Amino acid sequence: MMTMTVSEADPWHALTAARVNLAGKRIRQLFDEDPERATRCSTEVAGLFLDYSKQAVDSRSLAALQALADAQQLGGRREAMFHGEAINSTEGRAVLHTALRAPDGAPLIVNGEDVRASVRDALAQMTAFAEGIRSASLRTVDNQRFTTVVNIGIGGSDLGPRMAVEALAPYDQSGLQFHFMANPDSNEVLNVLHGVDLRRTLFLVSSKTFTTQDTLANFLTARAQVTAVLGSEARAMEHFCAITAAPQAALGHGFGAERIFRFHDWVGGRYSLWSAIGLPIMLAIGAPGFLALLAGARAMDAHFRTAPTLSNLPVLLALTGIWNANILDARTQLLVPYDTRLAAFPAYVQQLDMESNGKGVDLAGQRLERASGPVVWGGLGINGQHAFFQLVHQGTQKVPVDFIGVLRSPQQDLEHQRIVFSNMLAQSEALMTGRAREQVLAEMLAQGMDPQRAEVLAGHRTFPGNVPSNTLLIDELSPTRLGALIALYEHKVFTQGVIWGINSFDQWGVELGKQLGRTIYGELCSAPDALAHDPSTRALVAKVHAALGGNLG
Ligand code: F6P
Repeated sequence: MMTMTVSEADPWHALTAARVNLAGKRIRQLFDEDPERATRCSTEVAGLFLDYSKQAVDSRSLAALQALADAQQLGGRREAMFHGEAINSTEGRAVLHTALRAPDGAPLIVNGEDVRASVRDALAQMTAFAEGIRSASLRTVDNQRFTTVVNIGIGGSDLGPRMAVEALAPYDQSGLQFHFMANPDSNEVLNVLHGVDLRRTLFLVSSKTFTTQDTLANFLTARAQVTAVLGSEARAMEHFCAITAAPQAALGHGFGAERIFRFHDWVGGRYSLWSAIGLPIMLAIGAPGFLALLAGARAMDAHFRTAPTLSNLPVLLALTGIWNANILDARTQLLVPYDTRLAAFPAYVQQLDMESNGKGVDLAGQRLERASGPVVWGGLGINGQHAFFQLVHQGTQKVPVDFIGVLRSPQQDLEHQRIVFSNMLAQSEALMTGRAREQVLAEMLAQGMDPQRAEVLAGHRTFPGNVPSNTLLIDELSPTRLGALIALYEHKVFTQGVIWGINSFDQWGVELGKQLGRTIYGELCSAPDALAHDPSTRALVAKVHAALGGNLG
């Protein structure tokens, strides 16, 4: 029987001890020791099959990770979230994106209001509107069918709907064209506005706060152009909707009350695609499709709340991620979907994860003792293989990978899918097994290569291997499965936040830049302040001021 030393009673020390116990064993060796590992370390929920057997963990490290989750009271924190407690402590708010996908449960009262009733009302308003646009019973001011939807929003008011509309394109029978305008950069704004028929375009101005400078600037430019085409601002505003948690601000900007879709401050921006922010999704795939998306997420919620730790998909992703970040010191997490429909998924998860867990202090405001959220990055797998995978295979840092594949597509060419999956599976195998120097050397010598040259090339052709990865296989990318996939990553991020003891639901780190940006904007509009800023920023402000019309003459 295993006895515990005093230091192992600290769950973090127990993790370190578990690593020592692994004694530098390679992941590949763990399979030799446990012939059932591939089966034991895989599990399937809601159409998502996760194989985490290529993670560098054994049963002792998993037990230590489980003990850590227990010590951090994961179960209690999780229930606190689902019950609407104000777990976003720095903003004094509940965190209830899960309620958005459970409109029919028992009443859930937050701030004196029944959350379920307001979710049902919001869904009814969205449904009536979306079906009206899709069926063309709601028409342009000139009584024509809308052909185009432009979503104006950024961050959480952009990435989720953009990703989902793209991922679910095969389920889109709306006949509408979708554009997402996030960046205030003139190139993006003018490209979109010049590329659509403004007489037949519906604009959704999505902003939780309705104070985001980028979104408001894009709205004002779009409104001015639509006004020029339709003849009056009043007529133009018939083509604009606001989606916001600040309806008063939207009213103040001239939106008609019936064109305002509201959500609540207990929905974080990066968790908001389930709310009215998901209106572009509903416009694309219809209300039944949107309800299926919610149902998939709800299935993952139920699993997250009830499944035991070591067969709980989000918790397993979280715990192995903690092992990689805190024990193996891997500071990034690579996400590679092998399906073009999921091209925007890494950017979506990047905000979800980095804005949630990119924190340096704990709930009490004290500096963290250990690393928190990793740098999350990624892109399509096959494209990545011809671009950044070199570093993952042979660079000097360990980059854990999540491989994501979709087994069936509506328009499937089997030959192409074989190519895709052979690549994906080969990458995870290569990253784990690597290729030893001795083997490389022996192969080159066997081919008759000059021994001196073989010695030089051996290092270049060696693959260290032992890179941990998850493989996630989705049976098909339906609305239900996409809902489950998104909720999987949401709950992974939540679990890690609990274990690091941080608030995953605020984002104070975005404020300073915004504040200084307002000052510099004022200077670019008038004159640079000769005494403000550090010397570098001062000189750059002057240069940009001159280029933007200050002293161009
Ligand atoms: O600046 C960061 C941020 O506040 C994100 O958290 C948010 O998703 C994004 O900006 C957009 O905010 P809003 O929806 O209020 O316009």
